[in-house]
Amino acid sequence: MPKLADDLRRWTESSRKRIDSVVMTPWEEQVGRVLHTGDGVATVSGLPEARLDELLVFESGARGMVVGLGETDIGCMMLSDPKGIVAGETVRGTTEVARVPVGDELLGRVVDPIGMPLDGGEVPACRDFAPIENPAPAIYDRALIERPLATGVLVVDAMIPIGRGQRELIIGDRGTGKTALAVDTIINQRSSDVICVYAAVGQKASSVARVIESVRHSGAPERCIFVVGEADALPGLQWLTPYAACTMAEHFTARGRDVLLVIDDLSKHAAVYREVSLLLRRPPGREAFPGDIFYIHSRLLERAARLSPERGGGSLTALPIAETQAGNISAFIPTNLISITDGQIYLDPTLFNEDQKPAVDVGRSVSRVGGKTQAPALKALAGSLKLEYAQFLELEVFTRFGTMVDERTRKKIEHGRRIRAVLAQNQFSPLSLGEQTALLAALSGRQLDDVPLDRIAEFRAALPRWLAEHAPEIADLDDRAPPITDEKLGQLRQVLAELADTFAAPDPEATE
Ligand SMILES: Nc1ncnc2c1ncn2[C@@H]1O[C@H](COP(=O)(O)OP(=O)(O)OP(=O)(O)O)[C@@H](O)[C@H]1O
Ligand SMILES: [Mg+2]
Repeated sequence: MPKLADDLRRWTESSRKRIDSVVMTPWEEQVGRVLHTGDGVATVSGLPEARLDELLVFESGARGMVVGLGETDIGCMMLSDPKGIVAGETVRGTTEVARVPVGDELLGRVVDPIGMPLDGGEVPACRDFAPIENPAPAIYDRALIERPLATGVLVVDAMIPIGRGQRELIIGDRGTGKTALAVDTIINQRSSDVICVYAAVGQKASSVARVIESVRHSGAPERCIFVVGEADALPGLQWLTPYAACTMAEHFTARGRDVLLVIDDLSKHAAVYREVSLLLRRPPGREAFPGDIFYIHSRLLERAARLSPERGGGSLTALPIAETQAGNISAFIPTNLISITDGQIYLDPTLFNEDQKPAVDVGRSVSRVGGKTQAPALKALAGSLKLEYAQFLELEVFTRFGTMVDERTRKKIEHGRRIRAVLAQNQFSPLSLGEQTALLAALSGRQLDDVPLDRIAEFRAALPRWLAEHAPEIADLDDRAPPITDEKLGQLRQVLAELADTFAAPDPEATE
């Protein structure tokens, strides 16, 4: 019996010691509460230390991102299904910004902006994650843009060349071939080492499927990432898409690779942001867009750059797309984007309806950087093309009214029509640098003047084989090769004249 009492006493003592050793300190956690929710946004009270872009976790497991800080409440954009959320439930801050998976595992995949697969495959097994917002490279981390990014579209490569690391806006009305031009550029990268990231914002699923299908069919899909925020996805996810795509692209840029980022399109992105801002009752500004609409696009596009050799020498080229209403490029969002980017390619609905495709309006398009990067072989031949073409367009308008023209003017117009025919190009048929150089050489050497207009396309189709056989050094031309010497140019024109002869209309006098 005394043993039992002894045991009991010892046990009580040890328990008391253990209890005494527990230090009870207060523990602080900020908890907010949902005020109201709906339409893909939520308003939260509390969380005084929440920061912009911070990720919030709701009691029901849903996630959201802070987009507005009011005096008494926080505006939050939902990033996952908000269905179960009710007013009054608790919300916790994470002190982190949203992160997305990055890495080689994403190549060839179709993912949503948080890296979840949309192609029916497994979740990409990425080991690295990176924040969706990254500061743009500082000036001393950048290098001059020197190499061209070949689009394979002659009118762009010859007259509005784009450099690796540049930001060039593709702008035009609905259905003028904006996506087609960007997709052709992606497809042309099958013959380069450039990695392509296509960000679809607010697009119909069928349009995105068409883009993916064409790249899979004609391009190098194993070097592409498709980041899709469809039209029926949450506004938050649509908004996130270009930033997530940019982060995925930067992963490769930081490793010295050249990357092309297509954002299709920023008008829809702005509209989604306007929708979210209005729902969160932020004060509307011009065209009802919130005051920071310029900033959200500039901080995104500023991330495109060519990095200095110390930072690996990679580059991020951005091709944002913007839609205009009735050709109005001076509307709010188009002017914003034009002022942020290093030039724009304007696609004209009139040209498109006249079947001049790609419908690039050369007069209203400009590339403020790319001219210095154009492949020397092409640059030497493209110099006078823009001027000649502009003069022709003016003359053509003049002669439309049946004006009598002299022989010199008639020849100029005939030549201009050939320039136009050469610049017309079908989708999915990118031209190599050699083919582009040969076409420009034939134009400026007037070898095409005897080829009927409706046979120019045939001439172009026959060109690759003809060059491979008769001028192999032109067929394999590199964008860093020096300009072609006069002697070589003469030989090339001779070769082209022979090909042109096979298409030329028979001379009526000769047959008599
Ligand atoms: N170079 C071309 N040759 C032949 N057809 C073309 C060419 N470019 C575009 N098209 C055709 O024009 C149509 C519209 O093109 P696309 O969808 O690229 O335009 P968009 O400006 O992106 O339209 P949206 O404003 O609806 O996004 C498509 O059917 C496409 O096949
Ligand atoms: Mg489009």
